[in-house]
Amino acid sequence: MTRAIATVALPSGNRMPVFGLGTWRMGENRRRRKDEVDAIAHALDAGYPMLDTAEMYGDGGAEEAIAEALPASRRDSVFLVSKVSPHNASRAGTIAACERSLKRLGTGRIDLYLLHWPGNHAIAETIAGFELLKEAGKIGDWGVSNFDRAGIDAWWKRDGGRCGANQVMFNLARRGVEFDLLPWQRAHGVPVMAYSPLDQGPLLRHATLQAIAARHSATPAQIALAWLLRQDGMVVIPKSVDRSRIDENLGALDTTLTAADLADLDRAFPPPGRRTPLDIV
Ligand SMILES: NC(=O)c1ccc[n+]([C@@H]2O[C@H](COP(=O)([O-])OP(=O)(O)OC[C@H]3O[C@@H](n4cnc5c(N)ncnc54)[C@H](OP(=O)(O)O)[C@@H]3O)[C@@H](O)[C@H]2O)c1
Repeated sequence: MTRAIATVALPSGNRMPVFGLGTWRMGENRRRRKDEVDAIAHALDAGYPMLDTAEMYGDGGAEEAIAEALPASRRDSVFLVSKVSPHNASRAGTIAACERSLKRLGTGRIDLYLLHWPGNHAIAETIAGFELLKEAGKIGDWGVSNFDRAGIDAWWKRDGGRCGANQVMFNLARRGVEFDLLPWQRAHGVPVMAYSPLDQGPLLRHATLQAIAARHSATPAQIALAWLLRQDGMVVIPKSVDRSRIDENLGALDTTLTAADLADLDRAFPPPGRRTPLDIV
């Protein structure tokens, strides 16, 4: 039996799971496709309730890998997130990009559709495209990614409070968003999707993380993910194509950090004392 995974509320009232599988770097090479499809299928079997992708990943290849791994019979049990690239985000371009993604994904609906990063199209244009997609039932909610505090504030003033989420780089080694973006998102009820939650790997060799992991009979990845998951309104999307790591990362949901752990982590990875530019991969 798969476990129940907590959800967070989007401003629309719809809910999204706090945990999912990232798919960046998938779909780039036909020779790796079978392993990637198997990894996604394994994650779904293990109970991952959400998949995060983008039209940009593997130039659509990651979305195609998801389609291969996700049978129509299971579609409704998975929360699908995809993203429109900024150069496509005019009103008509957003709609056309979404329709291409839906075709590659082999589904009629994306649950959350994000603007991948701020671009040159007017906010009103992108919002109009998103709203038409929503009215047509092709997306459940829409939101943004890689928006800093000033950016999301400007967007929010234009969108009338409909932005569903902001997906940003956030992990122990990159805590800048805690200074002003996270407080803003909490105050406005906009979930934070933490991307690169393992800082793409090197973070896991840090001595403090390893020491805390040893205290919990856990792994550094589980500690890094548990540190994010303990925060209200936080969604994490670690990526792996390795079955045992996929299971290991899900195990973070069973890891509870103590006050002493959190103090050690604050000493090793100090919270930001001032505003810094948003981290972007
Ligand atoms: N919106 C955006 O602009 C944006 C940008 C970046 C990422 N994202 C999304 O966020 C997802 C996650 O971020 P990410 O892929 O950049 O980085 P990540 O999840 O922090 O790290 C992924 C890397 O860590 C390795 N890894 C995974 N689990 C591990 C474990 N338990 N122990 C040791 N190594 C482990 C993976 O290798 P293996 O695969 O070999 O296991 C991979 O090299 C992406 O896949 C994507 O969906 C969004």
